[in-house]
Amino acid sequence: MTQADLETPSDYAAVGGGPAIAAVVDRFYQLVLGDDRLKGFFEGTEMVRLKRHQVALVSQVMGGPVGYEGRDLRAAHAGMNISSEDFGSVAGHLVTALTEAGVERDIIDRVVTTIAGTEADIVESRPAAG
Ligand code: HEM
Repeated sequence: MTQADLETPSDYAAVGGGPAIAAVVDRFYQLVLGDDRLKGFFEGTEMVRLKRHQVALVSQVMGGPVGYEGRDLRAAHAGMNISSEDFGSVAGHLVTALTEAGVERDIIDRVVTTIAGTEADIVESRPAAG
């Protein structure tokens, strides 16, 4: 641990740690499952398990405890034919949930940047070339 670690809380700590992130993830899934574009993707998914994974993953992205033990993102989303529009809708709902929870803008921006870096692993459906 360095001096900077002692002085600067992680984004994870700054938003209120695990319970705060669990609340954001709950709201995020309300928004996703209420979205006609997205809800079909989650038919048949065991949501309790999915939420547990998402909480761990978002925590990790925000500098909290490294607890994610799910499949890697490419394997988890393979064969779903997710488009970049689908991806954008999901990312937008995450921003809404974070904003509603009062998370500050610069933290949200960092989460968005990290999430955007996962797009190539998740999106499979691309417009035909030419
Ligand atoms: C925005 C970035 C995204 C992240 C960080 C993310 C993360 C995750 C994680 C951690 C899991 C659990 C993996 C496991 O159980 O091992 C998962 C599963 C899943 N994701 Fe995503 N995801 C993203 C975007 C999307 C999008 C855009 C869609 C669909 C439009 C989607 C649909 C699903 C579905 C349906 C599952 C469940 C798979 C199953 O039933 O096993 N995800 N995702």
